[in-house]
This record gives sequence, C-alpha cells and structure tokens, in this order.
Amino acid sequence: MAATSSSLASHLSIALRRPSPKLDSLSSQFSLFPTHSSFDNLHSNLRLSLTASKPSRSVVAMAGTGKFFVGGNWKCNGTKDSISKLVSDLNSAKLEADVDVVVAPPFVYIDQVKNSITDRIEISAQNSWVGKGGAFTGEISVEQLKDHGVKWVILGHSERRHIIGEKDEFIGKKAGYALSEGLGVIACIGELLEEREAGKTFDVCFQQLKAFADAVPSWDNIVIAYEPVWAIGTGKVATPQQAQEVHVAVRGWLKNNVSAEVASKIRIIYGGSVNGGNCAELAKQEDIDGFLVGGASLKGPEFATIVNSATEKKVAA
Ligand code: PGA
Repeated sequence: MAATSSSLASHLSIALRRPSPKLDSLSSQFSLFPTHSSFDNLHSNLRLSLTASKPSRSVVAMAGTGKFFVGGNWKCNGTKDSISKLVSDLNSAKLEADVDVVVAPPFVYIDQVKNSITDRIEISAQNSWVGKGGAFTGEISVEQLKDHGVKWVILGHSERRHIIGEKDEFIGKKAGYALSEGLGVIACIGELLEEREAGKTFDVCFQQLKAFADAVPSWDNIVIAYEPVWAIGTGKVATPQQAQEVHVAVRGWLKNNVSAEVASKIRIIYGGSVNGGNCAELAKQEDIDGFLVGGASLKGPEFATIVNSATEKKVAA
C-alpha cells in the first residue's frame, strides 16, 4: 500500500476516531507543525468535543479500536533456567482478559517457551528474514517461525536500526513479506535524542512510517510501536504527554496517507522504559493503545502489572 507523497508538514492532522469535517478544517489551518502548547490546546479541545458526542461504552479513552496490546521484548537475555522461571511466573499471573499479550523470546528459546507457556500468551519473534529462506547464513525465515507457532514479529526495532544498521526500505520489505505470509508485525518507529532536540521527531517517525506504508499489503495485522530511542533501556521514560503527542501525529499521518479507517483502527503502543510504576499514567492517554516492554518484561509479576494497566482505559461511561 503506497503512501502518497506530499510535504511532511501537510501530513499533520489530528487523530480521529471518525471523520469530522470540523476537525479536518481545524487541522488544515496548520501549515507548519504547531508548537507543543498550541498542539496540546488544540488537541484537548478536540478530545473534549469528541468525548461529549461519544456513545456510552465500558471502555473509553482508547483511540485504537482494537484490544489493548502489550508485548514483552526479551531481547538477547535469558538462559533455559531463567526463561523457565519467567514462563512459570507468567503462567501463574492474573492477566486481564481484554488484552492481547505477546512475548518475544530469543530465537533459540522460542520452542521452549511455546511448549511451556499458556495459550493465553502469543509468541513473537524479534526479527525475521526479508524473504523465503535459503542460503542466508544466520537468518531465520518467516516460514520457520510459523512452523514453531510464532504469530508476530518485531520489525524496525531501534537496536536493529541503529546498532545492526538496518535501513527503512529493508525493514519495510521484511514487514511486507512477513504480513504476506500471515505473521502479525509490531512495526517500530522512533527518533534519536538529537533528532528530538533538533525538532525532527515527526519527520523521522513519518519517514519510517512511509517506508512501512510503501511495502505492506495491508495494515490489518500491524501494531505500531512508538519507541523514542532516548527512552529505550535508559530508565528515561517519555512523559505521557510526549508519547500522546507523537501517537496523535502518527494517527494523523495514517489518516492522510493511508486511510481514515486504518488510522482509527490501528493500535499504537508505546515503548521505552515502561515499568510497573509508570504504566498506569501512560495507559490513561487516549492514543496509547498498549506497550512494548523490554527490561520490565523479564520480571513476570511486573509484566503482569503492565498488562493489567489496561484497566486504566476502563472508566465509568
Ligand atoms: P525498555 O525496552 O523497556 O527496556 O526500555 C523497550 C524496547 O526496546 O522495546
């Protein structure tokens, strides 16, 4: 699905649950990216008007229409023993029913995890090869992942972008291939600290989104993970407002470049130093539809707390 190309500035619009001419005309008044405060003011006004007209339902304050989604990215951590303990902690944890829960073990432990973890939790890979398997030393194909019951793959993670050197186009192709073979894709985007400081956060995220948009056959099976690189593994979490602001912009970009339907339906999750203590405040943000969790996903009870922060979405309607 190709994105139309036009200036990045014109891509900005306000996230919409449903088309609204009033909101469209407001957002089109922005010829440049607004300052944070004007953005916040406009955004909260829009949210107020949307909330007022919303029908009652038990779950409100969630912009994506799917279930809350929480993924645990175990990265290159663990041993057979520590993973066995983590799986047993997850199996005995109480997890809210209304949440999609996924864990991504290192490749070599996928089989162990798949064979011991509750069916309640799905398995993701942390990477996949860009096409059909063959003479690609050290790679793992989508077909092999499916053979092990894997349902998801994380692609575009910043550690693969910035440490391994994967480029936008290559990541887009991987996503296209994985989706065409039936895997769900957790598509990661996010800016470096210097890019944020240079005011390029939206530009970077939109460019990374466009590379996905240019390559994927459909957005049905994609979850977007916004992970500011400066927040990953640093203990420096984005504020709920910083995360919300980018999630809104991402939804706006999808509305303008893919479709209003995709923008409204897609889940946009936040990643970067999420833990048991900060997840509730983040989860309260309307456009935060879940989390991708690194360090804190290695502790079963804490990961369960993060999963269960979905209850923050449930407020009296
Ligand atoms: P972190 O990692 O939670 O350890 O910051 C998040 C991620 O890389 O997905």
